[in-house]
This record gives sequence, C-alpha cells and structure tokens, in this order.
Amino acid sequence: MKWVIVFGLFVCAGLARADVLPDGPGKAATVRVCGRCHSPERAASMHQRRSAWEDTITKMIKLGAQGSDEEFEAILNYLSKNFGPEAPAPVNINKANMIDLQTTLAMRRSQARALIAYREEHGDFHSLADLRNVPGIDFEKLEAKKSRIIF
Ligand code: HEC
Repeated sequence: MKWVIVFGLFVCAGLARADVLPDGPGKAATVRVCGRCHSPERAASMHQRRSAWEDTITKMIKLGAQGSDEEFEAILNYLSKNFGPEAPAPVNINKANMIDLQTTLAMRRSQARALIAYREEHGDFHSLADLRNVPGIDFEKLEAKKSRIIF
C-alpha cells in the first residue's frame, strides 16, 4: 500500500516536472524518448547550437535511447528551437503583460490574469515569495522558472 502511494507521488512529480518544458511541436516525443532514463528536463538542461544537440542525441542513442527517425528529428527541432545557445530574456514580473507571462513563464491564461489583478491591487512584487500570495497560482511552476523572473 505504502509503495503504491510512493509510486503515485513519483509519477506525479515526473508529470509535474514534464510540464515545465515549453509547449511546442516535438515536446511529446522529447518527454517520451528522452524521459526514459533521466528526467526530460535533464535532456533540456543545456542551451546549445543545433549541431551540438545532434551530438548529444547521437550520444544518447549510443547509450540506448530508442525512437524512430521521425521522433529524433522532432526532438532535434524541439531542442534546437527552445534550448538554443541564447537563453531567453528574463521577464520583469512587475511590468509583464498577459503575453509575456504566458510565453516566457508558460503561465496559464487564468493564472496570468490573476497575477496581474493581484499586482494592480497590491502593488509591486518584491521577491519570489510574494508570488505565493496570488490566489490560484501554481507557485512551484513559477519557482522552477525563477532564473527568468526579475523584479
Ligand atoms: C537509455 C537511457 C537514456 C535515454 C533514453 C536518454 N539519455 Fe540522456 N543521458 C543518459 C545517461 C546515462 C546520461 C549521463 C551520461 C554521462 O554522464 O556521460 C545522460 C545525460 C544526458 C545529458 C547531460 C549531458 C551529457 O551529455 O551527459 C543530456 C543533455 C541528455 N542526456 C540528453 C538526452 C536527450 C536529448 C535524450 C533524448 C533524445 C536523452 N538524453 C535520452 C541516458 C539516456
């Protein structure tokens, strides 16, 4: 019984983490193929050029990664597009609009709206912990993106 719960938590944690990857074509294949041995975030932990992603994928295939040619092509496109050499610009959480919040921080529309409403009522946020006070916000998900948030 205990193990069932532990396993459940493990699966949930895995899913929650997979959610941190930006949406886009190739994400599903990346999670499926690259999430088998380590977290898919580890796969996306680097920012590098397409040719370097090609080398990484070749290395993973030698280590035993399995997928079709189409899947590896989709993964290469996904990683090159979302995890290229230049890290995305951070977003100022006190100035960000709906679009910034949704694209840079991958927030849901309803949550982005809640954050802006809270900011208008209470004034600027001063730290990551302040964001915890916004009702309905997925704080852990935002926390995972803290390197992209400035105040
Ligand atoms: C069969 C198991 C397996 C699969 C599937 C797998 N990896 Fe890995 N991955 C590893 C191992 C083992 C390491 C650690 C290698 C090391 O330390 O040299 C690793 C490490 C990494 C690293 C850290 C940097 C490095 O080069 O060591 C990255 C990035 C990475 N994998 C990306 C991916 C991507 C992208 C995919 C999907 C195409 C993927 N992995 C699928 C086994 C796997």
